[in-house]
Amino acid sequence: MGQAGVKRGNVYYSEEIIEEVRTKNDIVDVVGASVRLQKKGSSYFGLCPFHNEKSPSFSVSGQKQMYYCFGCGAGGNVITFVMNYENYTFQEALKYLADRAGVTLPEEDASAQNRQKQSKRALLLQINKEAARYFCHQLRSPRGKPGYEYLSERKLSDETIKHFGLGFADKTPGSLTAYLREKGYSDEMLVEAGLCAYDENRGFHDKFWNRVMFPIMDINHRVIGFGGRVMGDGKPKYLNSPETPIFDKSRNLYGLNYARISRAGNLILCEGYMDVIAMHQAGFTQAVASLGTAFTSGQASLIRRYTEQVLLAYDSDGAGVNAALRAIGILKEAGLSGRVINLEPYKDPDEFIKNLGQEAFQERIDKAEDGFLFEIRILRRDFHVEDPAQKTKFEMEAARRLSQMENEIERENYLAAVAREYFIDPEMLRRMVRSLAAAGGQVKPVERPRSTTGKKASAEDNRKKTQRMLLTWLSDEPQIYSQIQQYIQPEDFTDELYRQVAKLLFEELAQGRCDPAGIISRFENEEEQRQVASIFHTRLQGIDNQQQKEKAFKDILYAVKQNSCEYYASQQGTDINALKQVVAARRALEELSKVHILFT
Ligand code: UTP
Ligand code: MN
Repeated sequence: MGQAGVKRGNVYYSEEIIEEVRTKNDIVDVVGASVRLQKKGSSYFGLCPFHNEKSPSFSVSGQKQMYYCFGCGAGGNVITFVMNYENYTFQEALKYLADRAGVTLPEEDASAQNRQKQSKRALLLQINKEAARYFCHQLRSPRGKPGYEYLSERKLSDETIKHFGLGFADKTPGSLTAYLREKGYSDEMLVEAGLCAYDENRGFHDKFWNRVMFPIMDINHRVIGFGGRVMGDGKPKYLNSPETPIFDKSRNLYGLNYARISRAGNLILCEGYMDVIAMHQAGFTQAVASLGTAFTSGQASLIRRYTEQVLLAYDSDGAGVNAALRAIGILKEAGLSGRVINLEPYKDPDEFIKNLGQEAFQERIDKAEDGFLFEIRILRRDFHVEDPAQKTKFEMEAARRLSQMENEIERENYLAAVAREYFIDPEMLRRMVRSLAAAGGQVKPVERPRSTTGKKASAEDNRKKTQRMLLTWLSDEPQIYSQIQQYIQPEDFTDELYRQVAKLLFEELAQGRCDPAGIISRFENEEEQRQVASIFHTRLQGIDNQQQKEKAFKDILYAVKQNSCEYYASQQGTDINALKQVVAARRALEELSKVHILFT
């Protein structure tokens, strides 16, 4: 938990400045700029931007200055919202919100001394930035001539080379290492950044040499790693930085820093760095690529922040088709629709554009094939449909896939398209789909993994839930605190995190304040912030009138207190204060049974 201020990344911000920035940015305005919100009671509701859903379970409370999703459990205050929605670090989010509200943040201190103190992440970013600068400079020096010639031969303009920060690692082994050492970075950090390696023969040496270099940037244009290509037919063709604390290959996409501000309304997903660059150069600035590994669900959720329409421009060879099929599945799971661009007779977007140009590529975009129909077309290749048995198998499989579509209109439209395309009688196909859907309806639910909500809640879950309800209630109606103050203490909350939250909340309530969103900022770790948000958003059900309300509240308070009593009774062997707690709790329970709590 944060003490009297928060050290995040390489800057120390006082709690006051963080609070100033937070309170000057109304959460309803900030969230409302990206999520369509509708007022319902005292809160606003909308579709959760952090998971795929069809009916709104994402709530934003102006009173609490917090958001919480009853579907996926995402939650926090305005700062955590910006961090999660924009994929920003704490500092970036704070900077963004400070700018938005016209608050001036204290300057970053870039002195050598301060550099020592910086966190590893910041240091790694700095090393990568220096390396990118170095490679750029090398490309433009006489030694970089082979690299420059290679890129020109591949038809990249000077402007494009500059835009993507392309560079060159020359043949001299160890020149980057020497350069960065000179700048004061330790060998260990250079290894950790993935730019340098160690072995007994060569000592510390450059990882990349004699390659053209592609810096890989995150959405904020910060260099987080590199890809390096040989200039001929050597192996490996591309060498990539290893994963590091700043380079998570499954959660970044090459080119997204530019693609996210393209106004195309879709993203084009491809396999190669050169493909992205060629597309951007031809005006398709919505192109991105995965980072030398297969497309992941983390990348799909990253994409979902910007668009729902994804066009696949994967290689047209067998490996590319398989990769596209997998990507379609991952996109579908993330609730995104994928369409496939046909690049025939060329291998990849780069070659296509080089040969046929921009207009022809735009035509292929316009004619991109629906992901489902693409899957069926590829499926069809495995069957010799002249053979009736094989034809049956193909049609059954197509029907099975159609039967998995939940939306009836969608299913019917696809059914019509498949019937038309493969000369299947639509009536027959419909009957087949129906019977499979009916059978599937009986069989499937058993196979599906049981959701946690379906499971019977454990006693522990129930205890925690009661404690959460009490804290939520107090944050909703802070005026009751004065009536119950004497019966409840932070120690009554038997989970460490809950106890911390209760302590902070009770301190505020005792002073007549209540600021749950501020309490979230006191926790640094994202998972803790989510949990704190859930502590303030636990639903109370079945309360219609004043009488029920008073009874429900007292029951909850009583249950929390009773649990505390049992808990300390069980701790008596190990905790010397336990007995005192038990005695106090018993007395409070007795008094509590006699008092009446009034809601006004
Ligand atoms: P391709 O071999 O399809 O490359 O690999 P490409 O983009 O067409 O490259 P050029 O046109 O020959 O320059 C696609 C992607 O797979 C990764 C890289 O990210 C590359 O951009 N890859 C490929 C590697 O990481 N290592 C390799 O050895 C090869
Ligand atoms: Mn290529």
